[in-house]
Formats: sequence, structure tokens, C-alpha cells
Amino acid sequence: MSFSPDLYVRTLSFAARAHGDQQTPTGLPYVVHVTSVCMELIRALHAEPGRDGDLAICCALLHDVLEDTQTPRAAVEQEFGPQVTQGVLALSKDATLPKAERMADSLRRIRRQPPEVAMVKLADRITNLAPPPPHWTAEKIGTYRAEAEEILRALGEASAFLSIRFRERLSVYPAFR
Ligand code: NI
Repeated sequence: MSFSPDLYVRTLSFAARAHGDQQTPTGLPYVVHVTSVCMELIRALHAEPGRDGDLAICCALLHDVLEDTQTPRAAVEQEFGPQVTQGVLALSKDATLPKAERMADSLRRIRRQPPEVAMVKLADRITNLAPPPPHWTAEKIGTYRAEAEEILRALGEASAFLSIRFRERLSVYPAFR
């Protein structure tokens, strides 16, 4: 397992620049979200040795850079190489598809990547399964929960450790049925 702190600081700086003044739903700088995903991964990578830590952490730090910013794919490729770029692409929804198909399409593409990429998606949703914002309707919460269950079904086998964390989060997430 390889861990390269200099690479992570460079990647975090790239992500911070790319996300600019974007914020999390709670009003923090957006990089707090991507580093929170890394915090989930650290424990999983420790619990499940043999993973490529650099691939997991770099993909986590960059996972929203192509979907949510103007950063060109070529810039990611030049800085971080093809493997990380392919991982980040799989983690990005395809905006040319109808909205309802985007998640399933992304999950299919993630499954063709190394398991570290699936671990990033699991850790991302674990991070996002915080108590829903007060303005969310019951319907929206239900949809978000169903989508989370779909992610766990599609990718859970990539990490037993993260699957347990994921189920813990789901067990306290509101359900309306
Ligand atoms: Ni995210």
C-alpha cells in the first residue's frame, strides 16, 4: 500500500483552486467535503490493507472536479495521469444523459474501475448521508435514500468495511415508507 503525502497536498491544492469559492450545503469551503471523504477512506484503507492508497485518496480529492467545475479533463490528466483521470471520470455523472439515468450509468462505469474508485463513491455517500437539510421534502429524502441503497447494492462488495459504515448511516437516515 502506498501513501504519498506530498502528492495529496498537491492534489488538495489543485482541488481547492478548481472549486474556488464553491461551498458545502453547510456553508464551508467545498474542499471540506472532499477531505471528509478522505477521512472516511483513511480508516477503510487501514482496515483493508492491499489497496492503492494513492489512487483512492487522489480520486477522492478530485471526485467533483470534472462534474462541478470548469476544469478540463486534460488538466487532470496532465497533473495526475490516466488512472486517476479514469477514476474521476467514472465518478462524474454524464450530463448528456437524462437525469434519471445518470447515477446508474456512473455506477456501471465505476464497476469497471479498480475497487479503490468504488471505495471513493461509498465514502462520498457515507459522508453525504448526514441528517437531511430542513428544507428537503419527504419525497426528496426518500429518493436520496433509495439512491444510496442503489449505490450500496452496486458497489458494496468493493469494501466490507465501508459497507458496514454505509449501513450504519442508512440505519439512522429517515425513511418514509
Ligand atoms: Ni462528493
